[in-house]
Amino acid sequence: MSHQVDCWWTNARLATMDPAVAQAYGALENHAIGVSDGNIVAIVPSTVARGQKLVDVGGRWITPGLIDCHTHLIYGGNRSLEWEMRLNGVPYAEIARTGGGILNTVRATRESSSDELAAKALPRVRALMAEGVVLVEIKSGYGLTTDNELKMLCAAERFVHWNERIAISRSLLAAHAVPPEFAGRADDYVELIISDMIPQCIEHKVVDAVDVFCESIAFSVPQCERIWRAAKQHGLGIKGHVEQLSNQHGAAALARLGGWSADHLEYLDDDGVQAMAKAGTVAVLLPGAFYFLREKQKPPVEKLRLAGVPMAVATDLNPGTSPFASLRLAMNMACVLFGLTPEEALTGATRHAARALRCEDRFGTLAVGKSASFVVWDVESPVEIVCALGVNPMYQRVMHGEVTHG
Ligand code: NIG
Ligand code: FE
Repeated sequence: MSHQVDCWWTNARLATMDPAVAQAYGALENHAIGVSDGNIVAIVPSTVARGQKLVDVGGRWITPGLIDCHTHLIYGGNRSLEWEMRLNGVPYAEIARTGGGILNTVRATRESSSDELAAKALPRVRALMAEGVVLVEIKSGYGLTTDNELKMLCAAERFVHWNERIAISRSLLAAHAVPPEFAGRADDYVELIISDMIPQCIEHKVVDAVDVFCESIAFSVPQCERIWRAAKQHGLGIKGHVEQLSNQHGAAALARLGGWSADHLEYLDDDGVQAMAKAGTVAVLLPGAFYFLREKQKPPVEKLRLAGVPMAVATDLNPGTSPFASLRLAMNMACVLFGLTPEEALTGATRHAARALRCEDRFGTLAVGKSASFVVWDVESPVEIVCALGVNPMYQRVMHGEVTHG
């Protein structure tokens, strides 16, 4: 087998996160990963790994590259003053109703060029990469016109053109807020999304999935369903911000249409849990938004667990409700605030996050046939990746077989 391998990472402890490996974290002690052409072509005991190119990681742990499956990391402006207002007692929904919130960022985003947006977002992307993220989902949603939404989704592609070594998945979130030009005419805006924005995004090849904000301050379930149906007709994935601030029953509707993921879920009810379990819709938990909004209602983690709904964890990186760029912190919050185990949190930022983006054939576990995109950690146990903050334990980051950090 070893003659097909270009390079071995050997003397490693693998947290494969592969359910086929019965140990916690899918652990394999003293193993080696064989890489060829950017892919994992062998996983064998270290003693079997022989060849000219050997990277001896000295008994360190290797995990699959991390995946942040829900971000709004492209945006203009900054909303720290709104955070201050919220701390002084003004609710998020009230700030949104009076032209702040998402619409505040929309104004600043519309004024920025695609290059400016990408340049502003670069440090955020690099912060994620520095902690081991290899695949990031990036949403539009602060443009709210066809051209401005396209501009955001094109900006996301610049990272790839600039040779930043990260894979991206892009979601059209035109149904994030009703733009001021359509005030009182939300249905007309939904029509624009369906008749113009989705087809243009397809034509420009800038989109993988269509997202919505299903909430009393945003779009209703029937409006979201129209958008999801149109997206499906174009062969796109569908997902939604659902049950974040109230129970609108959006998760069940989304699951019944075959949603890739339902995200937030603080107010999810039993019917929603069952519909998601039946459809295989991933629950994306976003403890950062819960934390920054100082919410009290937690997503029904125990019910999701019992029903066998896969739970992913993401940053929700955005300027309003979740202004932080650390997937390790998001995993830590998922444990401390929502009661996930560290293994569930790490699974949520690897295997289940890959599934949420329908990228599990390439990412999410250490297994033969997947992309050789993994992280070597200077830790004694994978728990440390989730537990200890403030010092970055990443030793090396490998993207498609090439060392990018370390
Ligand atoms: O995921 N819930 C809606 N959208 C974002 C908030 C975006 C913003 O406030 O700018 C979220 O929390
Ligand atoms: Fe979000």
